[in-house]
Amino acid sequence: MSKQFDVIVIGGGPGGYIAAIRAAQLGKNVACVDEWKNAKGGPAPGGTCTNVGCIPSKALLQSSEHFEQASHHFADHGIAVKGLSMDAAKMVARKDAVVKQNNDGILYLFKKNKVSFFHGRASFAKAVDGGYEIKVAGTAEETLVGQQIIVATGSNARALPGAAFDESMVLSNEGALALTEVPKKLGLIGSGVIGLEMGSVWRRLGSEVTILEGLPDFLGAVDQQIAKEAHKAFVKQGLKIELGVKVGDIKVGKKGVSVAWTNAKGEAQTLDVDKLIVSIGRVPNTIGLNAEAVGLQLDERGAIVVDGDCKTNLPGVWAVGDVVRGPMLAHKAEEEGVAVAERIAGQHGHVDFNTIPWVIYTSPEIAWVGRTEQQLKKDGVAYKAGTFPFLANGRARALGDTTGMVKMLADATSDEILGVHIVGPMASELIAECVLAMAFRASSEDIARVCHAHPTLSESTKEAALAVDKRTLNF
Ligand code: NAI
Repeated sequence: MSKQFDVIVIGGGPGGYIAAIRAAQLGKNVACVDEWKNAKGGPAPGGTCTNVGCIPSKALLQSSEHFEQASHHFADHGIAVKGLSMDAAKMVARKDAVVKQNNDGILYLFKKNKVSFFHGRASFAKAVDGGYEIKVAGTAEETLVGQQIIVATGSNARALPGAAFDESMVLSNEGALALTEVPKKLGLIGSGVIGLEMGSVWRRLGSEVTILEGLPDFLGAVDQQIAKEAHKAFVKQGLKIELGVKVGDIKVGKKGVSVAWTNAKGEAQTLDVDKLIVSIGRVPNTIGLNAEAVGLQLDERGAIVVDGDCKTNLPGVWAVGDVVRGPMLAHKAEEEGVAVAERIAGQHGHVDFNTIPWVIYTSPEIAWVGRTEQQLKKDGVAYKAGTFPFLANGRARALGDTTGMVKMLADATSDEILGVHIVGPMASELIAECVLAMAFRASSEDIARVCHAHPTLSESTKEAALAVDKRTLNF
């Protein structure tokens, strides 16, 4: 006998589990199927974000930053540390405990919201009267029928041809987060978000880190003034970043990996490392979904084709998150999940793609929302720019972290904020005010007129807004 649901969500990552909870809040009878297993074979919902992405990387970034502070910066505060050491295995065990708290938290939320959870792999069996039959294979062997299906199966790391991930020598994000010893020499291919975050973790713990990036510009999608400032800081910290490279043959041995590459001048080079992390983007995951059984349309990249409302080509089938177009960000997936659940319930769910923030959790952090200066130039938009350096912010001085700036871009005529770009301490938190301002279509003058607590880093946002009008008070 099959079990009947109003909504079946395939995938329990940020897109899927949030969609399931929202649909249940709106009175639907909901199932969520997720196959991720913890070390003991039990359920580990939360997807890439919780298990091998956002959450564990932030745990390791925090641990490694503490170590970096104790090693190099405590002395500035008059604190002397003797016999400092790092137990990488313990750091990784703490990270695993943080992940488990999040897995358990999601299982608790399912119970609280009466979402039925099934631990296994879901695939389409066939279309049936008024819905779809979904097979679950794994810990739970079930046949489910749902009137509405939300596919939220996420993405997988993209491998370099000729260098398959073995998670021992050639690592994806999964292996990079599970190293229990600090590699002496670490190579990374791709200086995107994962490359910079993982490169920072292991550099802080003592690895000699070299990043090989194919593009000639560092962080090409980021506002280039901000990217240049970040690049300067990373190089000063000791990250070796080679731009405009072409990666050739990769030889994987028992003790190390040898990467042949040519530099921007076309000169042949070799990089010998103990471990190699490949972080060159991710591909949508529809493996095992049996999309063809029901005729679910995929594009040439393997992403599920959806319209602006996350509707697929099949009636009653929706898709959200990394498996569809758009940025592969947990919070974008969550927004889509909520909007789809609300549309299923007859409401008018909406995602504003123009105000999705981006964050890179390095030190300094990089965060932005809206358009960059180079995009505005390309789009032919007349704009005003205001910047304010953290060097002139009292709180940043007290923290001992004055790298970077806040940069605000506003329409030259209407003064509407078009983009905000931050490199510096707590940029990830500071960006929230700017996202809110843009969601309300605020002008830079609006932010300039709002009282910001003193002394806080957020005063730099207010000062950047004042700088748009060329009237900073503290610089
Ligand atoms: P990415 O797209 O951020 O960066 C990939 C980099 O690799 C690019 O700079 C690209 O030019 C370079 N590249 C591609 N092919 C190359 C080649 N053959 N040789 C040399 N360089 C090459 O992708 P990444 O870092 O793998 O992250 C994957 C996804 O995960 C991204 O969409 C990212 O947004 C998401 N993510 C988000 C995080 C956050 O929000 N903080 C953290 C980690 C990942």
